[in-house]
Amino acid sequence: MEKGPQIWAVGGGKGGVGKSTVSTLLAFWLARMGRKTVLMDADFGGANLHTLMGIKSPSRTLNDYVAKRFDSLEDICINTEVENLRLICGAGDVLSMANPHVSQKTKIIQNMTKLSADHVVLDLGAGTSFNVLDFFLAADRQIVILAPQPISIQNAYAFVRNAVYRRLSRLASQQPYLQALIKASMDTENELRLKTIRDFLQAVEDFRGRDAASELREEIQMIRPEVITNMVTGPKDRNAGKVIQMVAEKYLMIHPVDLGSIVYDRHLNGLITEMKSLTGLNQSSDAFANVYQIAMRLVSER
Ligand SMILES: Nc1ncnc2c1ncn2[C@@H]1O[C@H](COP(=O)(O)OP(=O)(O)O)[C@@H](O)[C@H]1O
Ligand SMILES: [Mg+2]
Repeated sequence: MEKGPQIWAVGGGKGGVGKSTVSTLLAFWLARMGRKTVLMDADFGGANLHTLMGIKSPSRTLNDYVAKRFDSLEDICINTEVENLRLICGAGDVLSMANPHVSQKTKIIQNMTKLSADHVVLDLGAGTSFNVLDFFLAADRQIVILAPQPISIQNAYAFVRNAVYRRLSRLASQQPYLQALIKASMDTENELRLKTIRDFLQAVEDFRGRDAASELREEIQMIRPEVITNMVTGPKDRNAGKVIQMVAEKYLMIHPVDLGSIVYDRHLNGLITEMKSLTGLNQSSDAFANVYQIAMRLVSER
């Protein structure tokens, strides 16, 4: 049987950190490397990926798929001016898509693995709703974008933490005792003083024994965020990814990878402000080169 595409999700905390920009540039580089790539706008509340690709009003969007006007995701892919790169556009401000029903979400998640491509790059929406987290957790590569400011580091950490709890609570759906523990540890004022995943696993061990705890620990460690610091302006900024790494190892018991950074690039920002296609970006631009390095690293590892 043919192997499906490798799914890369690009997410992380608040809006404005560069998720759409970085996912577009990553998809662009994958395509340039000769890999058949589909870039999918999974920002259901504020789809704008087509603009970054220089498309004003897409002829087909995810909304057409959800409304059953097309049978497969393949049918709503749009060719772009870049060879090997196709686009699945989001649905603009269509309400039903801003908050898709669970069955719609599941259908999209299942069917994106059937796309005829080597890679699917998902541009996720902001925030930590289940819709965002479930797409993130379904991906083979879980990329987290953050900006170097402390508030953005906090947001990215909160995003990763919520992803861990989301995975746990899905595992716990059949186990009331686990559900209760998860609920307690997500409540910051809980009497059990479960402040971290480490505390949580200790509590599982106390209540259910060592095996139950280590089983859960293995599940949690399947989450392996790969962190990119975007819009870096100085050498100190480059440490933001390391901060996430350290804090997540200490409190969440997972091991994020620091993929490196992308500089703040005025030319890039200019293109986006003028709503011009990112494919017009000067290929000697620093940000472009940074994303190339990161894409190379992502394809060569694992
Ligand atoms: N490396 C960068 N250099 C300069 N500006 C950037 C860079 N990355 C993103 N931006 C700017 O930041 C803004 C938000 O980017 P966007 O990709 O839309 O973020 P998100 O998808 O996370 O909301 C855009 O105006 C974009 O031009
Ligand atoms: Mg975006």
